[in-house]
Amino acid sequence: MGVALVTGSAGLVGAESVRFLSETGLEVVGVDNNLREFFYGPTGSTEWSRKHLESTIHKYRHVTADIRDEKRMNALFAELGDSLELILHTAGQPSHEWATQDPPMDFDVNARGTLVLLECARQHSPKASFVFTSTNKVYGDSINRRVFEELPTRWEIERSSPFFEKGIDETLTIDRSMHSIFGVSKTAADLLVQEYGRYFGMNTVCFRCGCITGPGHSGTVLHGFLAYLAICCLKRESYTVIGYKGKQVRDNIHARDLVRMFWEYHQNPKPGVVYNAGGGRRANCSVMEAIGLCENLTGQKMNVVVRDQARAGDHQWWISDTSLFGRDYPNWQQNFSMEQLVQDVLTGLDKRLSKG
Ligand SMILES: NC(=O)c1ccc[n+]([C@@H]2O[C@H](COP(=O)([O-])OP(=O)(O)OC[C@H]3O[C@@H](n4cnc5c(N)ncnc54)[C@H](O)[C@@H]3O)[C@@H](O)[C@H]2O)c1
Repeated sequence: MGVALVTGSAGLVGAESVRFLSETGLEVVGVDNNLREFFYGPTGSTEWSRKHLESTIHKYRHVTADIRDEKRMNALFAELGDSLELILHTAGQPSHEWATQDPPMDFDVNARGTLVLLECARQHSPKASFVFTSTNKVYGDSINRRVFEELPTRWEIERSSPFFEKGIDETLTIDRSMHSIFGVSKTAADLLVQEYGRYFGMNTVCFRCGCITGPGHSGTVLHGFLAYLAICCLKRESYTVIGYKGKQVRDNIHARDLVRMFWEYHQNPKPGVVYNAGGGRRANCSVMEAIGLCENLTGQKMNVVVRDQARAGDHQWWISDTSLFGRDYPNWQQNFSMEQLVQDVLTGLDKRLSKG
C-alpha cells in the first residue's frame, strides 16, 4: 500500500490533510513536534489535535520529531523509500510578527527545514509528489503601491487594475518590495522547492496561499486570523484591529478546499510549478467585515480596539486569482463561501472550547 507523509500533521492544514488522505486508502505518517506551542504559548498548542488524530484515525502513525533533524528525517525517508507517494509539507513557523523576534530560528525552520525534506525526498523517494504550503508573502508588499478606493467597510483595488476582476495571479513580481522576515524565509523555501523540480525533475509544487482557515486552527494573537477572531468573539475577549482602519482585505480558503487542491495536483503532478491558492473573489473579507459576520452569526457584539499603525509588510488588499490552477486541474472546485467559512469556524471552535 502507498504511503503519504504529512509534516506539521497536527496543525490546521496538516490535520485536515491527514483526515482527507486516510480516506484515500493511503497509509498516513505524520511528523509534528508541537513547535507551535513553543512559538505562540499554550493556546497555540496542537497537542489536542495530535491526540484526536491518533484516537480517531486507524491507519495514522505519528512521529514526534523536528523536520530540521536530518538524522531522524533521513532514517524516516529511508524506511519509507519508494512506497512514499506523496509528501505534504505544512510544518513551519507561520507568523510574520513572531519571525522578527527570532529571525535565525524562523529561517532555520522555514528554509533549512524545507531543504532537509527536499534532500531526503531526492535521496530516498524521488518519485513522490512534494507539495509545499507557501504564502502570498512571497510577493512582498508591492501590491500596496496600487491605487485603492475606500468603501464603507473595505479597501477595493481600482476597477482599471488587471487584478480587479479575478484577483492577483502568479505574474506579480516578487522583487522590489518588503517581504517581512517571515516572507523571506518562506521565499527561500519556495524557490528551493521549485529548483528541486527544475534541476532534479522531481514533482514539486508551491501553493502560495492567502489566509487558510478552519475549526482545526489553534488560533492565537500571532497567527490564525479567523480562528483567533472567532475565539475572541466566543470568549467575549477584546480584539485588536491593526492598521488600515480594519478595512484591509484578505481572502480565506478552508483547509479542506486547499487539501483537495493538493490531491488534484497529486493525480497529475508536474515538476517545479507554482499556484496561487486562496478564497478569491468568492471568499474574502476585510477585518471589519469579518467582525460583522461573527457578530451576526453569534448575535454577540464584539469589543474591538483599533490601532492606527499597520504591521510592516502587511497587505492592504489581497485576493488570489486561482484561474491558473483551475485551468490545469479543472476537477477542483472551491466549496466554502465567506459566510460558510465563518460559520464552520465558529461552530467547530464553540464545540472545542466548551469541552475545555
Ligand atoms: N494559516 C494560514 O493562514 C497560512 C497562510 C499561508 C501559508 N501558510 C503556511 O501553511 C503552513 C501550514 O499552516 P498552518 O496554519 O496549518 O500552521 P500551524 O501552525 O497550524 O501548523 C503547523 C504545524 O507544524 C508544526 N511544526 C512547526 N515547526 C515544526 C518543526 N520544525 N518540526 C515539526 N513540526 C513542526 C507545528 O507544531 C504545527 O502543528 C505553514 O507553513 C504556513 O506558513 C499558512
